[in-house]
Amino acid sequence: MNKLQQILTRGQDFWQKFYEKKGKKGVAQVAVLGLGLLYLQYQVRKYNGWLKKKSVVNEHIFITGGASGIGRSMAISFAKLGAKISIVDVNEQGLNKVVDQLNALYGEKTAFGTQCDVSDPQSVKNAIKRCVEFHQKKIDILINNAGVVSGKQILQNTDASIARTMNINTTAHHWTVREVLGDMIANRHGHIVTIASIAGWVGVRGLADYCASKFGAVGFDESLRFELRATKSNVKTTCICPYFINTGMFDGAKSKFPLLFPILSEKYATQRIVNAVLQDEAVVIMPIILNFAIMVKALFPTFVYDNMMELFGVSESMDDFKGRQQ
Ligand SMILES: NC(=O)c1ccc[n+]([C@@H]2O[C@H](COP(=O)([O-])OP(=O)(O)OC[C@H]3O[C@@H](n4cnc5c(N)ncnc54)[C@H](O)[C@@H]3O)[C@@H](O)[C@H]2O)c1
Repeated sequence: MNKLQQILTRGQDFWQKFYEKKGKKGVAQVAVLGLGLLYLQYQVRKYNGWLKKKSVVNEHIFITGGASGIGRSMAISFAKLGAKISIVDVNEQGLNKVVDQLNALYGEKTAFGTQCDVSDPQSVKNAIKRCVEFHQKKIDILINNAGVVSGKQILQNTDASIARTMNINTTAHHWTVREVLGDMIANRHGHIVTIASIAGWVGVRGLADYCASKFGAVGFDESLRFELRATKSNVKTTCICPYFINTGMFDGAKSKFPLLFPILSEKYATQRIVNAVLQDEAVVIMPIILNFAIMVKALFPTFVYDNMMELFGVSESMDDFKGRQQ
């Protein structure tokens, strides 16, 4: 009997004795514990960015709203990894600053930027054409990141502001995706990233227009994923759903229990998003504890969920909202 056979026989003996002593229930408990541990180690590896990562060297990454916040940070992180970056934003001054910074840091033709209002389909069409011409390459990764928040209660909001939020945060995703998806499917290569929000899963007082738009973005991503699955497409999707991030967009918003629900740093959020894209993750809720809220909402009666959200101060988080000051 060789060494391997000896180990296998010993293992068999062990499980036989274990079964005789503990019965079916014991075996089931061990199996559940084993699966739990396997799942836990997978989650730990995923959240720390230790899973297998794809390369983005020379990939053309197109980021909307890249003039500030996480859009700018993602552009810097992906450029550092060797990608060709295109940034579009309504803020031309901010956009040019980021492009100059990237080209100075990572080489002259690393980044290209052009002004674009993502809520205008023609503006999107023109911008994508310019970016593709500049990099001489179709878009490989599209990141729908541009977003706005009004922070107004339903009766205080205006028609124009509500329409603006919906157009930029949701409808615009159709304009960008429709421009690039055909080529991605044909080339069997591509990735569509939706920067949504935990406000796409959870309603918050004072964020009706924003929540409606982000629920829309989450729904858009999920529908897109199923369309791609139906055709066994190689094109990937990632939907990012963060809690508040300290970029300035949500200045004044607060967390009642910052130890449980910390306001995320721009640096952490960016690193997590970049890892999620490189690891081809489908949906990212951050911080991870917020999965619990979604679970309670799905499994328990509504009053349990409502009371829990009030207890954790979620409904009052926007009471002192000021928003971006500049
Ligand atoms: N900051 C947070 O707490 C937070 C939390 C969850 C999700 N998000 C989402 O992350 C994304 C980025 O947010 P951020 O915190 O970096 O905010 P940000 O304000 O720093 O960045 C948003 C960018 O979008 C640009 N933009 C606005 N309207 C545009 C338009 N019509 N066309 C093109 N660009 C436009 C802005 O000029 C800005 O550069 C947004 O979609 C936001 O909803 C943010």
